[in-house]
Amino acid sequence: MGDVPFWKRDPKPVTYVMGKATKNVPDYIDESLRGKSRRITEIGEPVLHNRASDVAAAEFGSPELRELIDDMFTTMDIAEGVGLAAPQIGVDKQVFVFDVPGDDDNRYIGHVVNPQLTIHSDGEPQTRGEGCLSVPGAYADLERPYRVTVTGFDWEGHPVKLEGEGYLARAFIHEYQHLQGTLYWDHLSEAEQQRTLTQRNQERPRVIERRKTVAAELGKEHPNYPETPAGGK
Ligand code: NI
Repeated sequence: MGDVPFWKRDPKPVTYVMGKATKNVPDYIDESLRGKSRRITEIGEPVLHNRASDVAAAEFGSPELRELIDDMFTTMDIAEGVGLAAPQIGVDKQVFVFDVPGDDDNRYIGHVVNPQLTIHSDGEPQTRGEGCLSVPGAYADLERPYRVTVTGFDWEGHPVKLEGEGYLARAFIHEYQHLQGTLYWDHLSEAEQQRTLTQRNQERPRVIERRKTVAAELGKEHPNYPETPAGGK
């Protein structure tokens, strides 16, 4: 080891696609380039507050499921998010996508259908700022477990098993909970819920304008957002 120059000792950041180290992954993956930009649902809309339906066996491998995942990647990228659950584009299905910069500087990309979450008790829970594309512009500190495992399926029905620590674990928990009808906002104290909604009211126009700008840069048509949040919270 003594002869290895210092710049070769530390492996460079790696991109993991569906848990596999993958070379030459572009900023915008094929799914994102193929998909359509959809309106992101907002806190108060019923689809966000009910458990999403399981994807049926017959739907695996279908063009509709492929298209849903494409649209989710596009919508997430345009909103500059790190994760998105199907109810966030108004679709009542157990699917989430993610593109997360890990605490280890690696990039983690993928999708999970019908996810199950296992929370591990090793590692200290972490309190960090968290936000949600469905509560645009608001952030709050929230404690989350340090390590989780997500199991489920890819869009063709192959089993998937993904491990997450730190920020990646936080993203997995956040997206999994979306599919149970729970927002990060639901975990906040009443005072923090009030504060984040005020923050949302102030920041929302800027956030939606930014989505419009990114969509234009990527050559995507952008959906209209109502002047006031559709959820009316
Ligand atoms: Ni969210």
